[in-house]
Amino acid sequence: MEIRRLGPDDAPDYRALRMRALWEFPEAFTSSWQEDEMQPMQAWEVRLGGEHAMFWGAFDGGALCGMVGLERQTRSKNRHKATVVGMYVSQEYFGTGMGRALMEALLGVAREEGVELLVLTVTEGNSVATNFYGQFGFRSFGIEPRAIKVDGSYFSKNHMYLELEAS
Ligand SMILES: CC(C)(COP(=O)(O)OP(=O)(O)OC[C@H]1O[C@@H](n2cnc3c(N)ncnc32)[C@H](O)[C@@H]1OP(=O)(O)O)[C@@H](O)C(=O)NCCC(=O)NCCS
Repeated sequence: MEIRRLGPDDAPDYRALRMRALWEFPEAFTSSWQEDEMQPMQAWEVRLGGEHAMFWGAFDGGALCGMVGLERQTRSKNRHKATVVGMYVSQEYFGTGMGRALMEALLGVAREEGVELLVLTVTEGNSVATNFYGQFGFRSFGIEPRAIKVDGSYFSKNHMYLELEAS
């Protein structure tokens, strides 16, 4: 397994894996398959080459099998914070340590870059992801009711944070 930063050249593979993630786990992500499907490839190239966001991919035999992103805040009062987004591992690799490897890569760079606080959201009921983040020290600071609506059903979001300096 290889973990590396993704760039604009990875846009076709990233897009394909993201579409799979949104299709398989519609309740786990705030983005919808239908909206992302309409985005042109250039939008993904821009996203992967963006100044304030970083993405990592996990590769097996050259194939992208897992991914995670980190979005930095930019204003003077909140740029100590960053948001973990789009964590996904292909189901064939569940439980193999791929998610852990991706998160460790993200945490290493976040610390190097002086990020002090990470935040993320997990859909309530996604116990695997909640437990996964808990292993890295993420703690819940509140539940947002009816945070997303998927096919007419509401799902709450668990907001979690990790203080990097304290961990
Ligand atoms: C959450 C997810 C990324 C975990 O990836 P993974 O590669 O299977 O996780 P790892 O094998 O690296 O496991 C790391 C830790 O997570 C926890 N974990 C992983 N799978 C688990 C499960 N089925 N049940 C409970 N805990 C689990 C364990 O603590 C594990 O540590 P351990 O192996 O030392 O016990 C993956 O399940 C996934 O992509 N799920 C679908 C999409 C999703 O829900 N994304 C999160 C959106 S917020």
